[in-house]
Amino acid sequence: MDQRVIPPQIIGLPGSLRQQSYSLAVLRGLQAHPDLAVDLRIWRLDLPLYNEDEDGSAAPVVVQRFRNAIGRSTGIVIATPEYNHGIPGVLKNALDWASRPFGKSVLIHKPVLVISVSPAFTGGARAHAQVNETLLSIPADVIGGPQVVIGNAASKIVDGSVADKNDLAFAISAVHGMLAYTSARWGQPQSLLAEI
Ligand SMILES: Cc1cc2nc3c(=O)[nH]c(=O)nc-3n(C[C@H](O)[C@H](O)[C@H](O)COP(=O)(O)O)c2cc1C
Repeated sequence: MDQRVIPPQIIGLPGSLRQQSYSLAVLRGLQAHPDLAVDLRIWRLDLPLYNEDEDGSAAPVVVQRFRNAIGRSTGIVIATPEYNHGIPGVLKNALDWASRPFGKSVLIHKPVLVISVSPAFTGGARAHAQVNETLLSIPADVIGGPQVVIGNAASKIVDGSVADKNDLAFAISAVHGMLAYTSARWGQPQSLLAEI
């Protein structure tokens, strides 16, 4: 009987809807990188605005699909810009949807790695800290360690791809850290063997 390796499924959440987004480019860089044996699926966060009246069993279908995808995943990688020293609305909105139902959220104890990206030298560090704080309130399992904060993005991300190999290598090592955490925490292998 043949076996094949099924890589861990990771959901990538860009905190920007912009076509030429630097944050999206970082996720695409991770998605395509040969050193990262993961199945990274990027979700565009154009969800309706959170409304508690529309939540529950009748939550919008797109939200139900979003929650299910998170629930099935091994972990989440968020790559986000900083807007006015804080979390972009689209990302906060998505985390609010994913945080419910209270006490039963698919994000509870889900490993989440946060990467911030900005053309400023500060790299979106303030948004980075705020996203971690939101995740801790759920509580998701925020992956600690050296923060992946990518500054001066305009000079490093060219034509939608990350030209700076050091930044990408740093981000990849953080994703490996998340996979190692997942194995240690849940005892699950980093890759699954499937019989085919
Ligand atoms: C409404 C708005 C607020 C912004 N505020 C900040 C900020 O506080 N700090 C920062 O580093 N960049 C800020 N920027 C610049 C963004 O980092 C920049 O537009 C970035 O390219 C957006 O991310 P993206 O490339 O992933 O779309 C702001 C941009 C917008 C549109």
